[in-house]
Amino acid sequence: MRQNMKRLDLFPDTAKIANDSLSIAGHNAASLADDYGTPLYIYDRATMDASVTAYRTASNANYPGSSDITYAGKAFFCKAIAEWARQNQLWADCTGEGEIVIAAAGNIPRERRLVHGVNKSANDLESAIQHAGTIVVDNPTELRHIAKLFPARQSPRPDLWLRLQPGLAVETHHAYTQTGQHDSKFGMTADEIMRAAAFCKDNHLPLNGIHFHQGSNFRDPSPLLPAISLALDLVRQIGLAGNWHFCPGGGWGAAYHEDELPQPKIEDYVRAVSESVIRGCKQRGLALPHLHLEPGRSLIARAGVAIYRVGAVKRRGDKTWLLIDGGMADNPRPALYGARYSCLPASGLGREMTERVSIAGPYCESGDVLIEGLLMPKIEEGELIAVPASGAYQLSMAGNYNGARRPAVIWLDESRARLIVQREAADDLLRRDLSIS
Ligand SMILES: Cc1ncc(COP(=O)(O)O)c(C=O)c1O
Repeated sequence: MRQNMKRLDLFPDTAKIANDSLSIAGHNAASLADDYGTPLYIYDRATMDASVTAYRTASNANYPGSSDITYAGKAFFCKAIAEWARQNQLWADCTGEGEIVIAAAGNIPRERRLVHGVNKSANDLESAIQHAGTIVVDNPTELRHIAKLFPARQSPRPDLWLRLQPGLAVETHHAYTQTGQHDSKFGMTADEIMRAAAFCKDNHLPLNGIHFHQGSNFRDPSPLLPAISLALDLVRQIGLAGNWHFCPGGGWGAAYHEDELPQPKIEDYVRAVSESVIRGCKQRGLALPHLHLEPGRSLIARAGVAIYRVGAVKRRGDKTWLLIDGGMADNPRPALYGARYSCLPASGLGREMTERVSIAGPYCESGDVLIEGLLMPKIEEGELIAVPASGAYQLSMAGNYNGARRPAVIWLDESRARLIVQREAADDLLRRDLSIS
């Protein structure tokens, strides 16, 4: 039982054990799975709102200048999530044209749409110029394309920020989730930033901000501090003045496994960034910038729970496989970079944890293993399991491998359960296909 209570801290704020079963925002998880089918993704609005409040409260307490929070759509974006971002007055970080379309569908105002991308296509750039408030320029080639496409008199014209590659990553569990290191594919070196700034000046481009992002799912903010210093040095040399914008990215972590508890505190991150920006600006005689924090995971990961049904159980010697009806097609993170997860059964939570299990999906890959060696009660065929911290970088990276149909998504809002993304159907698999006969 103690183990259950510890794992419960990985789940949304509203998760409880009631009558031996998992409930989220007052809904019995097993009943939701019966009503909507599995695999099922559940998002708890209260947890997402509380994360926004934590960012806002910490910014108000620690940063005397103006600030905004930008939701990183890459974590998970759909119309309802974009609507939620608008209702919370968040900006939206859109990677390219596709996510700009989703932000627009959720009525996020143009001036709060910010466009990222490491190799933006001509369509991405045209869409950004027409429909976004800010473009974060990744490289000199892109800047030259923007200069050609930029209308002389379109009003409003998007602002331009430059993306710095600070030469230093944050500590994450895998190299694939680091982005700030010197050989990263993202952003521009300090020299390239200086040349890009000169190019903007020569071509009358509206440069007014600098950005960097060092990696995703970190819990030690200290590598941000030298990167902030470098960025502020560049700002001073470039001569950004007046109402300038500064974004040290996102990436603050969330716990996925009970070994990673307690949850990293949003306030610790915001305080470290704020103090460093305030100190750095003072040392350099810079006006405080409009500070943008750009989280995805820390806003939404813990709000999401994935529910799967166990099909077959294979008990062989000391290895027990629970075979579930989802896996790498809806959550490629374990296969992609060894992400660790935990879970609870949706019902029968009073049982002793007596068996170490591995939990794998139905797909034709030996790497389709969601969880390895987790202590669980003795689970039988047909039971449901609930995987916490499933809100970020799962569905947004989901695919149709082996003809998988992407799961339905449910939104729990003030005790109402609403379908926000329909489960894909067999017809959806054929929607883009053309015949050759
Ligand atoms: C540019 C940029 N900003 C923000 C984020 C959000 O990161 P996280 O979801 O870890 O907060 C990412 C994620 O990789 C990113 O690439």
